[in-house]
Amino acid sequence: MANSLMKPTVSASDPYTLYHHLLVLFCEEGGNILAGHKSQPAEITQLLTEAAQRLKFKGAAGKDLLIAATGKPKTPQILLVGIGKAAELDADVLRNAGAQAARQARRVGAERVGLVFPARTLAKGGAEGAARALGEGFLLGLYSFRKFKTGEEPTDAGSKVRELFAYPATGSAKEKAGWQQALALAASLARAVNLARDLSNAPANEMTPSKMAEEAQRIARLGGISCKILGREEMRKERMGGVLAVSQGTDTPPKFIVLEYKGAKKKSDPPVVVVGKGITFDTGGISLKPAAGMEEMKHDMSGAAAVIGLFDVLRDLKPKVNVIGLAPCTENMPSGKAYRPGDVVVTRSGKTVEILNTDAEGRMILCDALDYAKKYEPKCIIDLATLTGACVIALGHAAAGLMTNNENLKNALVAAADASGDRAWPLPLYKEYSEAVKSEIADLKNTGGRDAGALTGGAFLKEFVDKKTPWVHLDIAGTAWLTKPSGYFGKGATGYGVRLLAEYLKSVSK
Ligand code: BES
Ligand code: MN
Ligand code: ZN
Repeated sequence: MANSLMKPTVSASDPYTLYHHLLVLFCEEGGNILAGHKSQPAEITQLLTEAAQRLKFKGAAGKDLLIAATGKPKTPQILLVGIGKAAELDADVLRNAGAQAARQARRVGAERVGLVFPARTLAKGGAEGAARALGEGFLLGLYSFRKFKTGEEPTDAGSKVRELFAYPATGSAKEKAGWQQALALAASLARAVNLARDLSNAPANEMTPSKMAEEAQRIARLGGISCKILGREEMRKERMGGVLAVSQGTDTPPKFIVLEYKGAKKKSDPPVVVVGKGITFDTGGISLKPAAGMEEMKHDMSGAAAVIGLFDVLRDLKPKVNVIGLAPCTENMPSGKAYRPGDVVVTRSGKTVEILNTDAEGRMILCDALDYAKKYEPKCIIDLATLTGACVIALGHAAAGLMTNNENLKNALVAAADASGDRAWPLPLYKEYSEAVKSEIADLKNTGGRDAGALTGGAFLKEFVDKKTPWVHLDIAGTAWLTKPSGYFGKGATGYGVRLLAEYLKSVSK
C-alpha cells in the first residue's frame, strides 16, 4: 500500500553531498544529457559520458540505466531516466518517467530517494508543471496493493521509500517555493488517488457499503467536510426505490453517502454535485454474470471511491466552490429476495422503470442519487460510473466516455481531463438512444438492448436530471482499473476521476 505520509521535500542543497539510497537524474534526449545539477561533480559527468557513449543511454523516453557511483558522490546508486526529446515532452511523458523511477526505487528497496530535475524549463506548464508531473508519476508509480500479503516479501513488491527529496537543477530560493507548492499538490493528489485505489482494490468482503461509509466519515473528520450516511430506513423515507430494489437481494446493508464541502464565499452558492456509483460487488443479480472474470466486479464501486478520494484532496486544495458528493453503495446479489427481470420499480423521482436485466443495476442506483441532487439546486452535476461493458468496447482503457446535456460543461471537463491525465472523450446522446430506453408498460426500461450500450445508459440517466442543470456522465468502466500495467499504473485500480475532478474544481475556483 502507498505510504500516504510521504511528502517530498524540495531542497536547494547539493544532492551529491547528501546520502540517498538512490539518486535519480532525469535526462533529456538529443539535448545535453550531461547538463544536470549545478553542483554536479566531475565523477558524475564522467559517468554520464560513459553511459551515453559506451552504454548507449541517450535519454530516450522509456529508457533507464542504473549505475554505481564512486568517489565524491555520497549516493552509491545513480539511476538515469530518459524523458525523450524536449519537443515531444508533455505531462504524460513526465508522469511515465516519474513512475519508471519509482519502479526502480522499489526494485532496489530504496528508502531515501533524491530526484534531480532537468535544468531547463521542460513541460508545457513550465518548470513547476514538470515538477508536478514527475512527482505525481513517481508517487502513483510507487503504489502497489500489498495489504493481504503475509510473511516475507521480495524487495521489489512494496515500496520502502520513506523520504523523498527533490532538487531543482537551477534552484534559486524563489524557484524553490514554487516547486515546493507543485510537489505538495502532486503529493496531495497522489495520496487521494492512491486512497481511491485502495478502496477499489480491496475485495468485496472487506469493502462493504458500511466500510465505504466509514472511510467517507474518516475523511470528513480530517477537517472541513461534513458527512451524512443514509441506511436502508432513511432510504425508504426518501423513497429511493432504485437503490432499494438493487439492494433487496443482499444481506449486506446498503449505505447512501453524502459528503459536503463549503469552499465558496457564500455558503448558499449552488454547489458542484459529484455522484459516484458504489456497487461493492456486481454479480449481475438474477441476470447472473458468467464466472470468468467476475472477480473484477469488486471494482464496481470505483465511481464512489473517486468521490471519496476527491474529498480527501479538497482538504488540501481548498477550491473556492461548494461541493456535494453523493455515493449510493450496495451489492448486487441474486437471492430469494432479489429484484427480478420484469419487475417495475418506482424510483425516487416518481418515474417508473421496467427491469429487463438486473445486471443494469448501476443506472438504478444512480437515478435516485441524481434525483436527490436536485434538492441542492446544483450549479452542475458530474457522475462517474463503471456503467457499461459497451464503453470498454468503444474506448478501451484509454479514456472514459463523456456524455452530457451541456456544451460548456463538456468543454471544461475535456480541458480538465487533458490537463490531469484522466482522459475523457465525448460520446453523443441522440434522441434515438432516449427512445431505446422507453418501456411499453412503464416510463422507462433499464436496458436499451445491445446497440450503443454506453449511450443508452447515458440516455437513461439523462431522464433524471433537470434539462436546465448542466450535467456530465462519465462512463469509467474502461478506465477505473487495468488488467495489465500501462503507463504509470500497474494492474488494478487507477483511482480514475480524482485528478480530473480536482482539476475541474481548480478551474472553477474563484
Ligand atoms: N458493472 C457493469 C459494467 C462493466 C462491465 C464495467 C465490464 C466494467 C467491465 C454493469 O453493471 C453492467 O453489468 N452493465 C451491463 C449493462 C447491460 C445489462 C445493459 C453490461 O455492460 O453488460
Ligand atoms: Mn451490472
Ligand atoms: Zn455494475
